[in-house]
Amino acid sequence: MVKKFKGLVLITGTTSGVGLNTLKPLLRYGWEVIAVNRSNKRALEIAQQSLTDSEIKNVNFIEIDLSDLDDVRNGCSEILKKFKNPINSIICNAAVYKPRLRNPERSPQGFENSMAVNHFGHFLLISLLLDNILSSQKEIELNGKTITFTPRITVLGTVTANYSELGGKIPIPAPANLGNLSGFKNGFLPPISMADGQKFKPGKAYKDSKLCNMVTVQELSKRYSKEKIIINSLYPGCVADTKLFRDTPWLFRFLFPIFQKFITRGYVSQRLAGERVAQVATFKQYAKPAVHWSWGNRQKLGRKAFSQKLSNRIIDSDISKQTYELTRKLVRLD
Ligand SMILES: NC(=O)c1ccc[n+]([C@@H]2O[C@H](COP(=O)([O-])OP(=O)(O)OC[C@H]3O[C@@H](n4cnc5c(N)ncnc54)[C@H](OP(=O)(O)O)[C@@H]3O)[C@@H](O)[C@H]2O)c1
Repeated sequence: MVKKFKGLVLITGTTSGVGLNTLKPLLRYGWEVIAVNRSNKRALEIAQQSLTDSEIKNVNFIEIDLSDLDDVRNGCSEILKKFKNPINSIICNAAVYKPRLRNPERSPQGFENSMAVNHFGHFLLISLLLDNILSSQKEIELNGKTITFTPRITVLGTVTANYSELGGKIPIPAPANLGNLSGFKNGFLPPISMADGQKFKPGKAYKDSKLCNMVTVQELSKRYSKEKIIINSLYPGCVADTKLFRDTPWLFRFLFPIFQKFITRGYVSQRLAGERVAQVATFKQYAKPAVHWSWGNRQKLGRKAFSQKLSNRIIDSDISKQTYELTRKLVRLD
């Protein structure tokens, strides 16, 4: 008889916002969690504020600074050594957004930092754990019940990276666009700071990094069949009061949630966003490859998730192939 393992899910960035609020529902659904953060001590202290002692027992903390590719390599080796049973589901959630920088911050490897954290760190983490997740048990146990589970990767995307949606067309500072990827082609090191090789625009650097996240989902979905693994992305709604906006002007931080709650009606609470992420990463109904799940930009009670139309900048085969291959080189996988 094949021994059944408890489902194991890895999530990055659980010290605040969406990631923190994804922990509780994952644990409620019966998953064992690997929480990847920059500081285990801080991540544990924060988790203890919202989780019970028995919930915390099912959370394993692993320290990785996603901006540092060496750290990602070390952290993934630690994960592969430490856990006997393979990971069933990975959630790429962590991100940085620094729209007010005048000059780019640089990662330890010299890359523009929001691209390094949001895209390169996750890309390398996925790549190093892919064989492990592909080898995971199809039959897992959740809350004492045996279920069949196809390995899954879920990536947090965003509306501002999708030119097919109104939010993706906002010209301040510019819509996400990888152009001809000349920044990546030319090594993405100083003085280069943007994927398209153009002048540094910090808000666009974030949008471009999220565009790369979503492009990676499309490309990986072409490379791996849906029988082996399901890879998708989601936009949980505008979670306008998370720490993601900590580097925006205080007036923006004050007005943005009000604007999203009462004018656009795009606002989603951190708790609901966490619930949505946990469900997309684990529920059978979301096991459809290359789908970008969304609940729309105007939140309505009881609204069901749908497959959001994606722009050519995300689904174009040539862009996704080039982005994937160039990223492999930049993170030194080739
Ligand atoms: N908020 C929204 O409206 C919204 C909308 C669409 C999509 N999203 C996406 O949702 C995800 C979560 O965003 P959020 O709003 O919850 O933001 P958040 O509250 O700022 O959380 C970001 C998380 O990422 C972690 N992180 C940052 N840099 C890291 C690094 N170098 N290594 C490891 N972890 C790092 C942070 O940890 P530290 O405490 O160490 O900084 C934190 O745990 C992001 O991918 C974002 O793009 C958010």
